[in-house]
Amino acid sequence: MEENLSNNTSEEILDEFDARRKELWEKRILIEQKFHLEEGDEFQQFDWIGKLKTKIITALLKITGLYNRGEINASRVKLTKVKFVYPGIPKELHGLKILFISDLHLSQHYLSWFISATSVIQQLNTPVDLILLGGDYRFGYFGPEDFIVPMLKELLEPVETKYGIYAVMGNHDISSVREKSEEVGIHVLVNEGIEINHNDTKLWIAGVDTQHGFECADVPCALINAPKDAFKVLISHTPELIEEAALWGVNLYLCGHTHGGQIGLPIIGPVYVNANCKRKYASGKWEYREMQGYTTTGLGVTDVPVRYNVKPEIVLIDILKIPYELK
Ligand SMILES: [Fe+2]
Repeated sequence: MEENLSNNTSEEILDEFDARRKELWEKRILIEQKFHLEEGDEFQQFDWIGKLKTKIITALLKITGLYNRGEINASRVKLTKVKFVYPGIPKELHGLKILFISDLHLSQHYLSWFISATSVIQQLNTPVDLILLGGDYRFGYFGPEDFIVPMLKELLEPVETKYGIYAVMGNHDISSVREKSEEVGIHVLVNEGIEINHNDTKLWIAGVDTQHGFECADVPCALINAPKDAFKVLISHTPELIEEAALWGVNLYLCGHTHGGQIGLPIIGPVYVNANCKRKYASGKWEYREMQGYTTTGLGVTDVPVRYNVKPEIVLIDILKIPYELK
């Protein structure tokens, strides 16, 4: 599959990929219009079943006295440091630092996890090469999202980044967030990638639109232009594209969406991860064939604003070459 990548790819094939990107973007917009996702408010649900489920879970947690604990858990964001070792990469990539945040679920009513995350970011005190965002910027599924980008900007402003901020969209996001993000310098990757020259070594940062909810992801579109010798990072909102990404030679797959289950039971673990993937890919660090990846438990929560046994997190990633030869 990798032979298909980059230099020898004909103009004609690239045009077909451009057409595919356009087609998927139009499909997303049609879905948004069909469900009126820009109307209503952040507490609106798709149907009465969802609304009832949220009310029942909230009531049960309040009756059992667990609700407040859950709210406190959801508001204590931690910094998770993760190291990925790639013995075969160029030594120039050793020490590459990525800040990865997903599922921010920013809300006009629930501010606790945003306040906690702001404090974590202010204490970070370390420059990074890249900030990557995994989608799901708003709490609900409906309503205007004008408040999202200013909050994102405020949260990320203190972080010094060499190559900027790259993001993908999740199943809570609507297309207008793309344009607003670009206006403040957040590059939204929609089934596309970008090449970055890091210490004279090629990095390919790719992003797909969300598969979950919209079915608008296209892994080949995101990787077709990648130079063969580049270190390839793919941001996908969900862990549902792991197998396909590995076929396209992705080195690092970053995703979220699952919230690690959001509600976990002691010993048993998450009750429900809301993704079509094996449970071992639903949170934390994992490997699939030659590819390594991380599924974050996310920063925010949705539906019922609680967490149990699954902490919210901001992830600081170090890419390492070991053994690292000093020359
Ligand atoms: Fe999601």
